[in-house]
Amino acid sequence: MSFFIHLECSQCGKNYSPREIHNLCTCGSSLLAIYDLAGAARSLSREALAGRPPNLWRYRELLPVFNEENIITLGEGFTPLMKAEELGSSLGFRRLYIKDESLNPTASFKARGLAVAVSKAKELGIEKGTLPSAGNAAGALAAYAARAGIKTFVAMPADTPEVFSFECRAYGAEVKLVEGLISDAGRLCREKIEQGWFDFSTLKEPYRAEGKKTMGYELAEQMGWELPEVIIYPTGGGTGIIGMWKAFAEMEELGWVGKRKPRMVAVQSEGCAPIVKAFQSHEEVSEVWKEACTLALGIRVPHAFADRLILKALYESQGTAVAVSEEEIVRSFYEISQKEGILPAPEGAATWAGLKRLREMKLVDPDERVVLFNTGSGLKYVEVMRNF
Ligand SMILES: Cc1ncc(COP(=O)(O)O)c(C=O)c1O
Repeated sequence: MSFFIHLECSQCGKNYSPREIHNLCTCGSSLLAIYDLAGAARSLSREALAGRPPNLWRYRELLPVFNEENIITLGEGFTPLMKAEELGSSLGFRRLYIKDESLNPTASFKARGLAVAVSKAKELGIEKGTLPSAGNAAGALAAYAARAGIKTFVAMPADTPEVFSFECRAYGAEVKLVEGLISDAGRLCREKIEQGWFDFSTLKEPYRAEGKKTMGYELAEQMGWELPEVIIYPTGGGTGIIGMWKAFAEMEELGWVGKRKPRMVAVQSEGCAPIVKAFQSHEEVSEVWKEACTLALGIRVPHAFADRLILKALYESQGTAVAVSEEEIVRSFYEISQKEGILPAPEGAATWAGLKRLREMKLVDPDERVVLFNTGSGLKYVEVMRNF
């Protein structure tokens, strides 16, 4: 069923078994899943996908779960790719799209990564796990783990909207709120990891990126196997950018798409822009952002563990990174809501603010196909957005 062959270190290339529990390479870097793509290409065609159920497991040959019985699904993936006519024409764009990830189970794209990570954890016999979160990842882990019978402990900053801790507790997770940022929440999870809990943190676990890569497969399928020119993504830990960039390379090897790839654009807030700063100074890695502060809580990440891989995807794709102000995020939140009928997460709103900046900077042409990622639902951010 799956063409997954092994895990490979993204830095030193060392290989690891796909049937054992692993987090990082011994060199400390993220592990990525490698597939027998030649084998997959022989047994799976683009046409064969068409009749499959509309969820991310339609790409199961290219996902890491070996035994179908271990799949824990709530129907995640295959979210709509909406043409944003009104929003687009306000800036002269004819082909602007919003990939609306708010329609996933638990109302964010985090469902993708955690559906795959929890399914693989079940396959590997993991019984308890933990992660630090800005809210959405915790809700998704708690939901899938509830369904899998896996015990969870999640830690979040104390200013995270209450809906997230309420949701996690309802799913049966143990929740701790921490004064400070996601990095401080991470320190609390470390204590659990030292006691034998599995670490589900972004890119310290190899399979969340696999779930997120399906956003790339879906974009290609939904656009008739032609990738857009530009993808704009709100970047915190960067799993989506890394996952999609991996998906595009896999699809090229499968013969499903051509050589041309989208330019990947990371959007961050001016209040927390470590990747933008590193990109602008052509660095390979980023520095920790001091006093991170933004209402787009999912991108309030002072340091992305896999910063090197995020930056690599931006450089290789000839993309860019752009920081937007809090005012621009708020304005964009209402513009998307009022012009498109989609209530975005503030992180999703930041992508539209990012496109406006790129247009001003003449880094994108209105004739190009542009996809904005609305990564979550505004409904979970009432506590934050009602102040503006
Ligand atoms: C709604 C939302 N958008 C974007 C992000 C950032 O995602 P990534 O870690 O893939 O960069 C998060 C992370 O918490 C989020 O909750």
